[in-house]
Amino acid sequence: MSLLTADSVSKNFGALNALKGVGLSLESGQVLGVIGPNGSGKTTLFNVITGVYKADGGKVTFEGRRITGMATHEICRLGLVKTSQIAKPFARMTVLENVFVGGLYGRGLSLTRAREDAYEILEMVGLADVVHQPSGSINVAMRRRLELARALACGPKVILLDENMAGLTPAEIDGALELLHGINKNGVSLVVVEHVMQAVMGISEYVIVLDYGEKIAEGTPDEVVNNRRVIEAYLGEEYA
Ligand SMILES: Nc1ncnc2c1ncn2[C@@H]1O[C@H](COP(=O)(O)OP(=O)(O)O)[C@@H](O)[C@H]1O
Ligand SMILES: [Mg+2]
Repeated sequence: MSLLTADSVSKNFGALNALKGVGLSLESGQVLGVIGPNGSGKTTLFNVITGVYKADGGKVTFEGRRITGMATHEICRLGLVKTSQIAKPFARMTVLENVFVGGLYGRGLSLTRAREDAYEILEMVGLADVVHQPSGSINVAMRRRLELARALACGPKVILLDENMAGLTPAEIDGALELLHGINKNGVSLVVVEHVMQAVMGISEYVIVLDYGEKIAEGTPDEVVNNRRVIEAYLGEEYA
């Protein structure tokens, strides 16, 4: 049984069909990549899966249970969380506080437990030195790690990562990949949306490709980069 499935998911914004019957399937322990040009529906897919947007069609299941229509915080408590493309920490709260609210509200831990947990997670993601700084004062690479730490604080089985490496230097990307590998090895399955091709192709076992709200290809990273429709979608017909 797949851990997470989306089946023929559709989402419209007025006349715009942002998702037209998209499906995906994530196995336990897997890293699944989702790629596609800007505006192809990647973020919308994450928002529908996590209950931020209500789907106009199709269904999502998590551990065999239908979660379509459930509230985001309920889905989070089941163990399915996402990080946002635009990092939105509570800027005036410290790094530690930002993570520990995840444990408090996302998991219902006690104050003491949530605090201990937050320290441990921040150590793991490499933010131990800045735990008491306001989260508005840390750099982009650190903010990306903070997003990840906030997701981890909910004790997830699956994390959906929406362009968590955007704006990072190549060295920072290497560090981020290493971190994601570690998290995955610890048993957390991942769905990775990323523009940095080298990153998403390096970490994903399987990749799906969206274009204008449709899945146009899927397969191993090798299969996908050599797919004619994918090359067309990214580079235009003349290159295919
Ligand atoms: N809240 C919204 N209201 C209206 N249109 C939206 C909204 N969110 C996304 N869209 C549109 O849906 C399409 C897919 O967007 P998005 O999922 O953000 O793409 P991606 O993440 O692949 O860049 C785009 O055309 C975008 O303008
Ligand atoms: Mg997006």
